[in-house]
Amino acid sequence: MSSPADFAENETLRSIHHRHSIRMFTDQEVRDEDIRTILDAANCAPSAHNQQSWRFLILRDERKHALAELVSHRAVDFPRSASILMRMAARSIQGAPVVVAVANTGELIRNGAELFRVDGELAFDFFRTMEIQSSAAAVENLLLAATSLGIGSVWLGILFLMKREVLEFLGEPAGEFMAVVPLGYPAKTTEGPKKRPWETLVRTLK
Ligand SMILES: Cc1cc2nc3c(=O)[nH]c(=O)nc-3n(C[C@H](O)[C@H](O)[C@H](O)COP(=O)(O)O)c2cc1C
Repeated sequence: MSSPADFAENETLRSIHHRHSIRMFTDQEVRDEDIRTILDAANCAPSAHNQQSWRFLILRDERKHALAELVSHRAVDFPRSASILMRMAARSIQGAPVVVAVANTGELIRNGAELFRVDGELAFDFFRTMEIQSSAAAVENLLLAATSLGIGSVWLGILFLMKREVLEFLGEPAGEFMAVVPLGYPAKTTEGPKKRPWETLVRTLK
């Protein structure tokens, strides 16, 4: 198994190890070419039945400011803890040169039964879960690709609490909210939070 020392030798492991959430950004633009590279990496993720039922929405300038406005405007309607996270999210969106939102199309939920039979109550749950898991893999690829290019990112999940408005805003009203990810160059050098050692999270079945 890998030990931390191996990270230095392997670029993929280095990106995985170095990725941590960045919430404040400099004004430096992210090149279109880098955005394309990042989205291509996201699109390489595994997806159930190779359905790729994710959509990536790119927001810059006015669209990005408008989303930040919407979020900070709605933040007051939520209990304090959520409200604080929403205001932080609005600041990250506002401060990032570019934002990528990820929405699920629901295609797998709609077409899943034609692809393979799962009956009854379990079907909706199964296809929806498969779709969410697929898109989560795409978001992680996106974060890792950004990291590998020196671009910071944070997965903003708190906007799920106002998902209908966000999806309307993104022009994906029939979709499912996955993530909003501000992208930009880190305003300061930070280390991510400490992780619980993986050894404490593993059990070998005997
Ligand atoms: C599904 C999901 C939702 C998240 N939502 C938020 C969020 O709304 N706001 C935020 O600041 N960070 C959010 N994060 C980032 C986590 O806070 C962060 O990943 C965690 O604290 C570990 O830190 P690291 O990313 O630096 O390793 C989210 C992460 C995930 C995976």
